[in-house]
Amino acid sequence: MLHVLKHPLLTHKLALLRHRDTTTKDFSETLEEIAGLMAYEITRDLPVKPVSVETPMGICETEELAADIVIVPVLRAGLGMVDGIRNLIPSARVGHIGMYRDHVTLKPMTYYSKFPENLPGSVVLLLDPMLATGGSSSAAISVLKEHGARTIKLVCVVGAPEGAARIAADHPDVQVYLAGYDEKLNENGYIVPGLGDAGDRIFGTK
Ligand code: PRP
Ligand code: URA
Repeated sequence: MLHVLKHPLLTHKLALLRHRDTTTKDFSETLEEIAGLMAYEITRDLPVKPVSVETPMGICETEELAADIVIVPVLRAGLGMVDGIRNLIPSARVGHIGMYRDHVTLKPMTYYSKFPENLPGSVVLLLDPMLATGGSSSAAISVLKEHGARTIKLVCVVGAPEGAARIAADHPDVQVYLAGYDEKLNENGYIVPGLGDAGDRIFGTK
């Protein structure tokens, strides 16, 4: 299921991210902020359990998170979203999937994966700012499922209809979250209007 998150702060920050003149520093800081804002919505349905807290004034019967949360960035660009979410959920553990899209075939190539224990019992937040053809995210979800993950939320920043359709077809059980849902892909598989190459803009490699 596709969720396109709407909030004035998200739209404002996404406009900054899209701007061609945004510097590497501002791009990476803004991406982190967007990830944090998105986390608020994405975690809305997490399970909680009762807890008793002693305040300076007495006992408060309240709730705390009951879910084990694992954040999995898709390298490289997903790394730019990790701290924004970790700042809000410091107990989250972090796995990694290394993947790049072949520039000619546009097919994803997996070069690395490492996960914390208990993926089957965790809520997994898979992070990648760009959902273009959907090939990388779909392959990353398959890797997670091979390692036993059962509850997966795909958190992207900008997506194209082609990518959303691909995830719906390959992994209908996965919730997909976007801050921007764009018009189309160009002939090189880039999202239009999009924001360009996310990895290059985060790390200043171009
Ligand atoms: C980008 C992006 C996604 C992928 C999206 O990564 O971060 O992982 O492309 O494209 P898709 O939906 O068509 O698969 P890229 O391959 O450029 O690698 P990088 O993050 O190392 O730059
Ligand atoms: N990867 C990116 O970084 N940007 C796009 O628009 C498509 C794939």
